[in-house]
Amino acid sequence: MNAGTIANMDETGCAETPLTEDGRYRLLVDAITDHAIYMLDLDGRVTNWNTGAQRLKGYRADEIVGRHFSSFYTDEDRAAGLPRRALEIAASTGKFEQEGWRVRKDGERFWAHVTILPIVTPESGHIGYAKLTRDLTERQRAEADLMRQDQQFRLLVQSVTDYAIYMLDADGLVSSWNPGAARIKGYSEQEIIGRHFETFYTEEDRLAGAPARALETARREGRFLGEGWRVRRDGSHFRANVVIDPIHASDGQIIGFAKITRDVTERVEAQIALEQAHEQLFQAQKLDAIGRLTGGIAHDFNNLLMAILSSLELLRKRLPDDPHVQRLLDNAVMGADRGVGLTQRMLAFARRQHLKPVRVAVPALVHGMTDLLQRSLGPAWPIEARFPLDLCNVKADANQLEMALLNLIVNARDAMPDGGVITVSGRDRVVGAEGLHGLPAGPYVVLSVSDPGTGMDAETLSRATEPFFTTKGVGKGTGLGLSMIHGLIEQLGGKFVLQSSLGEGTTAELWLPAMPAPDAPAKATATAANVPAAARPLNVLVVDDDALVLINSAALLEDLGHVPLEAASAEAGLTLLHSHPEIDLIMTDQAMPNVTGVELIVAARAERPDIPAILATGYGELPDDIDFKFFKLQKPFSQIDLARALSAVIA
Ligand SMILES: Nc1ncnc2c1ncn2[C@@H]1O[C@H](COP(=O)(O)OP(=O)(O)OP(=O)(O)O)[C@@H](O)[C@H]1O
Ligand SMILES: [Mg+2]
Repeated sequence: MNAGTIANMDETGCAETPLTEDGRYRLLVDAITDHAIYMLDLDGRVTNWNTGAQRLKGYRADEIVGRHFSSFYTDEDRAAGLPRRALEIAASTGKFEQEGWRVRKDGERFWAHVTILPIVTPESGHIGYAKLTRDLTERQRAEADLMRQDQQFRLLVQSVTDYAIYMLDADGLVSSWNPGAARIKGYSEQEIIGRHFETFYTEEDRLAGAPARALETARREGRFLGEGWRVRRDGSHFRANVVIDPIHASDGQIIGFAKITRDVTERVEAQIALEQAHEQLFQAQKLDAIGRLTGGIAHDFNNLLMAILSSLELLRKRLPDDPHVQRLLDNAVMGADRGVGLTQRMLAFARRQHLKPVRVAVPALVHGMTDLLQRSLGPAWPIEARFPLDLCNVKADANQLEMALLNLIVNARDAMPDGGVITVSGRDRVVGAEGLHGLPAGPYVVLSVSDPGTGMDAETLSRATEPFFTTKGVGKGTGLGLSMIHGLIEQLGGKFVLQSSLGEGTTAELWLPAMPAPDAPAKATATAANVPAAARPLNVLVVDDDALVLINSAALLEDLGHVPLEAASAEAGLTLLHSHPEIDLIMTDQAMPNVTGVELIVAARAERPDIPAILATGYGELPDDIDFKFFKLQKPFSQIDLARALSAVIA
């Protein structure tokens, strides 16, 4: 059998019996119903027709045999000479193969796969063409559908700007990019395609192998879900919600990953802000509760102490003038006085102290106190004051505000054992309707004290304003400094804001309600001039042979913001004076064994003729023949008496 035998087939399609070999071929070709198989003569006219051809093209054999096969072509293709070219190619190359639109009898188009082969017989040579046509309309439609879907998906992905949707190849290299990805991550398509997706991770995560782990999880579990910090092109961080799905080929192999990233920074930030607000509320409520408790206790204690003090005064009058008894009384009074000092600060914290708010020019107030402060702090802790010339005045109790500043400056010094700059500054700030630090809208002056010292960890910071919280050790700090400030500022209608982190220093801000500028110059300079000496830190040599009194006096001084140096005898006092040239004044007890207070002052003046001195004496202890200047402080003395004595000798 060869190709030539096909040409001898009967065009009517009737098989003869018994079946010849040709007849069997005829049956075979006819049985093929999904291919049109027919022959053309050399000119391209149809010479036979099978069932498949009839089904495909709609013509019966008697309608089409003898007609030119260009009837199956579209008008355009015919005009372009395609049928003729097809035959030429088949004849010259041995095969013409093509997919294209063809036309059925009813005019409907179908997508056909066409093969044309020349038929050559040994006897007659090239006698015509065999033509096979397959209807690929279904496949073509499916492909077009697929393409349309792909296109739709592409359009969909390309129009999404809220999500980064992109693909990775199996190694994690970026292989597609959408505008959302460009918007969120900042890279253009050209920049990022072909780069590894670990580019988006923080260095920490990269080093910890997070990118590879994410792909591994996606591979193993069919999906990776996660949330974490990622890095934009400009280096900024954003909180990303990430989904990674593996993409499988038809054989099940993973050929890449689909990655969807959402920027949830705002949501996370909102959540953090909410948590912070809760924490602040909790802190405020806690301080409030402690304040009420402290206030109650302080108030009761104050009354108790008043009762004790007045009883002691009465006792003093009724008891015999025995120095031993009197000394015991002195101690009791001293203890009670110290208690009064403490309860005063507790009342301040509880916002129950009596305040006299007046107009205060903060720069003048600060300058009025820094000179003396600076002298007592020493050169290792320079105080730098920075105020704009036109800073608003505030409404505050000047004395209390000084106490607050003093406390903050002493805290700053304590945070810098080896010295460092303490900056006191002020600025105007307006709080808008949205509020800030829980403050109502309005103008404020922010007075701040900052130091580059040790700073506080989060735990210490959160407790710093609690009354009695101190890290300074027994006898060194009362832990009432910041709590007093907190109470004071709240009572003045402002806010105390403490910012600190470990190793990075501390900034304490006093937000005080500003007062509109007065017509006349502020009277605050006068206020500054009225500063009681008690508010100016001095290095005081305290000498007393009675340990309790010594501790009490030192504590009172410290409580006033001074720096006491303690000596239990006149001899020890002289030694200290010798080794501490920064000592500003001496405060000594009179009645001491071996060397009395008066003798101590005389000896001290031999070395430092001008050193001021305070002599604390009980009743009738003092000799009559003293011929030098000193301040006599009657025992028992209150803290205010002590402050007055200090201001008298220092002025
Ligand atoms: N500038 C600062 N730097 C570092 N820690 C500070 C600073 N200010 C305060 N603190 C911390 O807060 C605590 C409480 O301070 P606060 O002024 O209330 O009490 P105190 O200084 O310990 O005692 P007192 O004020 O009676 O001398 C301190 O013990 C310290 O741990
Ligand atoms: Mg303090």
